[in-house]
Amino acid sequence: QQTSSLVFYVNGKKVVDPDPDPETTLLQFLRTKLRLTGTKLGCGEGGCGACTVMVSACDTVSNQVRHFSVNACLAPICSLHGLAITTVEGIGSIKHGLHPVQEKIAKAHGSQCGFCTPGIVMSMYTLLRNITNPSMKDMESAFEGNLCRCTGYRPILEGFKSFTKEACALGTACCRNQTKSNGDSNSDRRTVNGSVVSTCNGDALALVNGNGFVDHQAMTNGDNQTTDLLPADSTQDPIFPPQLRTS
Ligand code: FES
Ligand code: FES
Repeated sequence: QQTSSLVFYVNGKKVVDPDPDPETTLLQFLRTKLRLTGTKLGCGEGGCGACTVMVSACDTVSNQVRHFSVNACLAPICSLHGLAITTVEGIGSIKHGLHPVQEKIAKAHGSQCGFCTPGIVMSMYTLLRNITNPSMKDMESAFEGNLCRCTGYRPILEGFKSFTKEACALGTACCRNQTKSNGDSNSDRRTVNGSVVSTCNGDALALVNGNGFVDHQAMTNGDNQTTDLLPADSTQDPIFPPQLRTS
């Protein structure tokens, strides 16, 4: 059926715009129409990454879902027909529980003024949705489009290091040392969203131990006190809308 309406999904919710303005960007739409202001306007021209969101699409040939980090300031809203968008609000919040990516950057002091933080979180989140166990090099590449004026990047990378293969090599924080915990609803979730993930403990974020809790790591606060990470809620990961699947 032919329709001129623009249809896409944002954080799992269907958005229909019967009369889309082709000059509107995804960033303008998110911030002004949907009031999702977590995605920031920095440069407005693709240079800073403050506006990064995850765009997911179903590959028509393989029927697998692919995830891309995208500068929302550069994406015309009409280019998003039939796609799923995930913003920083969609992966976690203080009210409903932080996502481990959000929590780690906060506890590692990787956020100061915070303006770049949503974009950096979404770049990392997208990387983890595509590669369960990235290398440090993968991680650095994922941040090539994200600028931070405050932190010098080191606390950001340190905070996220435990997601990487290099942390696995150290042993203690490695997802491969954990027993598989997700033979249940998590694996089901992955089947539904079709993410491209390699196997480790089977969880897309490689953070959950056998009890369903985030692996506690030696992350210290400013007073040199070890701080525990909150339990992860794996159900926070948005599911790719089944309506957008090709079959
Ligand atoms: Fe700077 Fe989009 S606002 S890249
Ligand atoms: Fe200020 Fe990154 S925390 S720009």
